[in-house]
Amino acid sequence: MPQLAYVNGHILPLADASLHVEDRGTQFGDAVYEVCAVMNGRILDWQQHLVRLRRNLGELGITLGIADGPLTQQARRLIAANGHSECIIYMQVSRGTAKRDHSFPGGAPANLVMTVRRFDFAQRIRQLETGIAVITQPDNRWGRVDIKTTGLLPNVLAKQAAKEAGAFEAWMVAKGDGGETVREGSSTNAWIVKDGRIITHPTGTEILPGIARDSLIRLAREAQLAVEERPFTLAEALAADEAFLTSTTAPILPVVRIDGQAVGNGHTGPVVRRLAELTWKEVARQTGWRA
Ligand code: PDD
Repeated sequence: MPQLAYVNGHILPLADASLHVEDRGTQFGDAVYEVCAVMNGRILDWQQHLVRLRRNLGELGITLGIADGPLTQQARRLIAANGHSECIIYMQVSRGTAKRDHSFPGGAPANLVMTVRRFDFAQRIRQLETGIAVITQPDNRWGRVDIKTTGLLPNVLAKQAAKEAGAFEAWMVAKGDGGETVREGSSTNAWIVKDGRIITHPTGTEILPGIARDSLIRLAREAQLAVEERPFTLAEALAADEAFLTSTTAPILPVVRIDGQAVGNGHTGPVVRRLAELTWKEVARQTGWRA
């Protein structure tokens, strides 16, 4: 079956799916996006993704001329048309197509595109055993990374640096008075565990408020685990008992090396194992999916 994509109301073969060369997403990164996990044909945390998308559109003053109900229907239609029950759906909304001019064009409707890719979530469960390595990179992004825009060049360069170093992810680190603060990964949120306390950077303008981050905090607190939303330094991360990352495409993965140094004993620890259990149980509850 050929892969199908959605462009402004139409479902068509991916190879034929395109936007105008003057789409503002291409020219200015003037676009927001969401990535959602689909397991057992069901979209995980869909409402939370919708809320974040609407909030980001609002922050940038982009008007998407389709309400949540029809948008949900179109997303489901595209998933069904592609016929994958385990996949990710990518949705992108740009400010529209217009003659290149930095200021907002009047009257151009937003462009909405969606693509679907098969995704092997079971691989993430296998990776719980081995864990993954991260490197650190300077956080040289703009001051509103809480808005999920397609302007991802620093993230792209950081991820490439990680790949070249044989690591899974790059943690973006900012220099401050108290040392180097770990903010988040290039496409994931960053966490450490010290003395049983689970620590992650607070939301605000310096990190993306991850949907997986939010779920994990809720699940951990429901299980009476202590979660602290506060900045932590690279030194703290290197001295942590455990570390991990979260995202839609990696709901929870143990970080066992940072810049080549082992975290704790260099193996997946008990707190991450417990959190992984809670995370995958929640996935099963919502979608019925099991590895
Ligand atoms: N990335 N931080 C950044 C910079 C991200 O790009 C992402 C998501 C996250 C985790 O957010 P969530 O839990 O909502 O997926 C944190 C997506 C998956 C991507 O760009 O592919």
